[in-house]
Amino acid sequence: MVDTGMSDADWWRKAVIYQIYPRSFRDANGDGIGDLKGIDTSIGYLRDLGVDAIWLNPFYPSPLADGGYDVSDYRNVDPRIGSLEDFDRLLNHCHQAGIKVIIDIVPNHCSDQHPWFRRALAEGPGSPYRDRFVFRQGKGKDHSQPPTNWVSNFGGSAWEPCGQGWFYLHLFAKEQPDFNWGNELVREDFLYTMRFWCDRGVDGFRVDVSHGLAKDLTDPLRDRTDPVSQVPQAVDGSDPIFDRNEVHEIYRSWRRLFDQYQPPKMAVAETWTPITNRVFDYARSDELGAVFDFSLVKCAWNRDQYMETIRRTCQGFGSVSSTPTWVLASHDVPRAASRLGLPPGADLEAWVSSGGTSPVIDQRAAARRARAAALILLALPGSAYVYQGEELGLPEDLEIRPEDVKDPSWERSGHRFKGRDGCRVPLPWTQDSRSAFGFNRTGRSWLPQPDWFRDYAVSYEQGRSDSSLELYRRALALRKEWVARLPLPELSFLDGQGKGSDEAMHLILSTGLHCLTNFEGDSIDLPDGARVLLRSDGSSPSQPLESAATVWFTPQ
Ligand code: GLC
Ligand code: CA
Repeated sequence: MVDTGMSDADWWRKAVIYQIYPRSFRDANGDGIGDLKGIDTSIGYLRDLGVDAIWLNPFYPSPLADGGYDVSDYRNVDPRIGSLEDFDRLLNHCHQAGIKVIIDIVPNHCSDQHPWFRRALAEGPGSPYRDRFVFRQGKGKDHSQPPTNWVSNFGGSAWEPCGQGWFYLHLFAKEQPDFNWGNELVREDFLYTMRFWCDRGVDGFRVDVSHGLAKDLTDPLRDRTDPVSQVPQAVDGSDPIFDRNEVHEIYRSWRRLFDQYQPPKMAVAETWTPITNRVFDYARSDELGAVFDFSLVKCAWNRDQYMETIRRTCQGFGSVSSTPTWVLASHDVPRAASRLGLPPGADLEAWVSSGGTSPVIDQRAAARRARAAALILLALPGSAYVYQGEELGLPEDLEIRPEDVKDPSWERSGHRFKGRDGCRVPLPWTQDSRSAFGFNRTGRSWLPQPDWFRDYAVSYEQGRSDSSLELYRRALALRKEWVARLPLPELSFLDGQGKGSDEAMHLILSTGLHCLTNFEGDSIDLPDGARVLLRSDGSSPSQPLESAATVWFTPQ
């Protein structure tokens, strides 16, 4: 792997970045919705956990058709979450605590309540505002058929009729019209928005649906071969809507803006592209610099999948002279402490929608695997993302009642897919259910919390040596010395020898750290003289390593 050197500008390359879903983190004013003041009062928690940065999911004004990813004003704070003053204060306090702040930017689409879209609709065909979005006449004699077969990510056609035979494009909910990035004013407005937040002092951006901005909008529009697939169907950039070559020019123009700051702003792309090397192009140094490839999220608890993924990811980032980005969980996927209990190949959406009944998982086994996986994540060279609640070992809430579901997938799929609410339930801070487990003082909560959240409360886990929280804290502290001491440690795999080795993965970093995981096999004896730094299973240092456990050690 390439040694990139390390300066202030490179802080993110070895950072642990904690993802905060603001509505579900902490609620200072008790209205049941998490807010910026709630985060502000929890900075001590984040500092003690040992994270280097936080990434805030969207906190902008939004009608909440998609949890805030439907933005109606890009340069403001949703009054239910706080104000610009609250934002500035939070940013300042984070910086004082040595924590960087990155924010979500949502450039593929906005809210249908965004002033531009309202004007586009109100002014009708011929309005210049229509060119900032994707309006087309329907097919058929009476223009009643959608212009193409493109399908929304949340189900149903990606085209919404809007009168007089016209349709507009929305790759997500119908309340999220897609921008036309061929329009210069769209490009300029986003540069203006990002400058607005850069000038306030944010340290970087997470770029939503980054592979979707550039579309082939030459008429006549082309159908997709497999309309349902939400990943690009071509590996040469020729899919009409995803991962097109022209998208990279957009990010080069963003990089020119980011580099006007000292240190330059970082950015990380969200791309749900399939596993091809094209995903790494977003991380080129003249573009965003970093990208999620979600490959660990897609792994079942399986040694070969993990090894293959880690190798491929390291090589891929190396090929564009960037550093790897690792992620096990986010606000879009079922929580690792449950998901990892599923057998390889399980259909996540179907499992969530069945309320966790098909298949039923062994929750204890899943929790054990999640701890073992966390020590893999945090041993890997590069930057690691931790989603709020993962440090508590919080399982997925699979019991959300249909009437409480907020995710738009539920309605748009005709009640087939329950969606992502199960990982977005407000966090438990204390064991007091009258205060929504310490989420606030009133007990209100925009998504109901299950009773068992009590067993995962911060106050309960704090100071308990066998808790997930203390495991994360120790791992983050050790990581500073054993992983992040070098800009980018060399990583190699030691071929397994002896008992249990078929199911073992043994990583070695050039810092001297060994990370040994037993996935499913017989117990493994630790090498003679191994000095154990940390174990995911809480067993005493010299004990053999049972299955679903990871140990960090040094040779002596
Ligand atoms: C991204 C977000 C997801 C959102 C979608 C549309 O995938 O992570 O939460 O629904 O984009 O903005
Ligand atoms: Ca609130």
